[in-house]
Amino acid sequence: MSNSPSGVSRRDFLHLGSAAVVGSAVASQFPMSANAYYSTNDEIKIGLIGCGGRGTGAASQALSTSQNVKLVAMADAFQDRLEDSLTNLTNPDADFAEKVAGRIDVPEDRRFVGFDGYKDVIALCDVVLIATPPGFRPIHFEAAVNAGKHVFMEKPVATDAAGVRRVLAAAEQAKAKQLNVVVGLQRHYQRVYLEWMERIHAGMIGDLTTARVYWNSGGVWVRDRASLEADAGRALTEMEYQMRNWYYFNWLCGDHIVEQHIHNLDVGNWGFNALPIKAQGQGGRLVRTGLDHGEIFDHHYVEYEYADGRRMISQCRHMPNCTNRVSEAFHGTNGSAPNPGVLVSSSGHDLYRHNSKGDPNPYQVEHDELFAAVAAGEFKYTDGENGANATMTAILGRMATYSGKEIGWDEALASENRLVPDTFSWDAEPPVMPDADGRYAIPVPGEINVL
Ligand SMILES: NC(=O)c1ccc[n+]([C@@H]2O[C@H](COP(=O)([O-])OP(=O)(O)OC[C@H]3O[C@@H](n4cnc5c(N)ncnc54)[C@H](O)[C@@H]3O)[C@@H](O)[C@H]2O)c1
Repeated sequence: MSNSPSGVSRRDFLHLGSAAVVGSAVASQFPMSANAYYSTNDEIKIGLIGCGGRGTGAASQALSTSQNVKLVAMADAFQDRLEDSLTNLTNPDADFAEKVAGRIDVPEDRRFVGFDGYKDVIALCDVVLIATPPGFRPIHFEAAVNAGKHVFMEKPVATDAAGVRRVLAAAEQAKAKQLNVVVGLQRHYQRVYLEWMERIHAGMIGDLTTARVYWNSGGVWVRDRASLEADAGRALTEMEYQMRNWYYFNWLCGDHIVEQHIHNLDVGNWGFNALPIKAQGQGGRLVRTGLDHGEIFDHHYVEYEYADGRRMISQCRHMPNCTNRVSEAFHGTNGSAPNPGVLVSSSGHDLYRHNSKGDPNPYQVEHDELFAAVAAGEFKYTDGENGANATMTAILGRMATYSGKEIGWDEALASENRLVPDTFSWDAEPPVMPDADGRYAIPVPGEINVL
């Protein structure tokens, strides 16, 4: 099967990452050209961990690529989520049905339910898709890299600094093993952003001075305890409840500044080509006050400062019936970038206006590019480090708004304030518990220690 100069088959690359087999000296001699020597069309086995909305979407996109792919194993904490996902993926009326036909082979003995199913899935596949709530990401990503598997993982990649450090270490390992890693910060795969950034970085509006980034929206789903228990026909353990209603618990979600606003913060860093050195801000919860709203805020405002004194101004809000804005903007010495794809001179005339008509869906592009690289035996994608840094930027903002204090990047990244437990079981107490009235402690600025 192998006609590579190193005697490495594409099957080996799929399983181990080329460097693990080839050895780094040889690998660096042929850093991006491994594909030139592979001509087989081996099936690429895909495993899915976290079979919710995004995991199902990611699987449908992976299976819609033009490579020889097959979904062979799935894991979810809950059986019903896994079965629903499989039903959706095999729905003959789905718009992707034709593309994925014949590419799904997940018999019952390759469906894994519970906290440990990820291990079985990783063992069975070549490329792992990870789309659980982000609290689990460091554990799953590290396990996939240790096993030598290529990875697509959703953002954010952690909910605390300890998790970010774990992802940074695993991302280094992935590079050493030449494993492709794509992170679902899809703006990096979206034409309007790529064209915009290219022109910004080429200096079309001069030197950037300020960034403004926004995720102001009406909010997301709530999976309330009463309905969940009615569906189950019994009382849920606190762990079951928090795992179902994960958005509202920081060990699982990280708060919405981490879970959603990460996209915009990442774009700010991308524009500046830098990471912030400190942040200060404020936030709280005004409309998100129900028992099922857990412990997270509904608004955050943060000023991030970079080493050269530049600022990124960040707003995120989850409140219905307000003015919504999800976007990014930059100001430069010779003009501004008021919205993605738009550049305007200081005197107000258009320098560039991207027409997005016909642009490919970035969620699909992520998978097209990842699977093309894997199929060709190429090592091209190292998104893990940026995913970790974008996540840390958002966690830094959360630390600033929760504490009401100015927090430095280095002290935030070194924080030992761990949110995620080391072991998981359905009977275990989650890291935060409700009081006698069913309420969770809400961070109070000036009172809580976030470091
Ligand atoms: N890039 C994007 O634009 C985008 C869009 C939506 C969601 N996402 C991300 O995707 C992730 C999932 O979001 P979602 O909307 O699909 O949520 P979801 O609740 O629909 O799905 C999450 C699934 O993971 C399962 N799960 C939880 N813990 C698990 C574990 N330890 N092992 C296996 N399965 C586990 C849950 O039971 C659930 O089925 C989040 O990180 C979210 O931020 C990204």
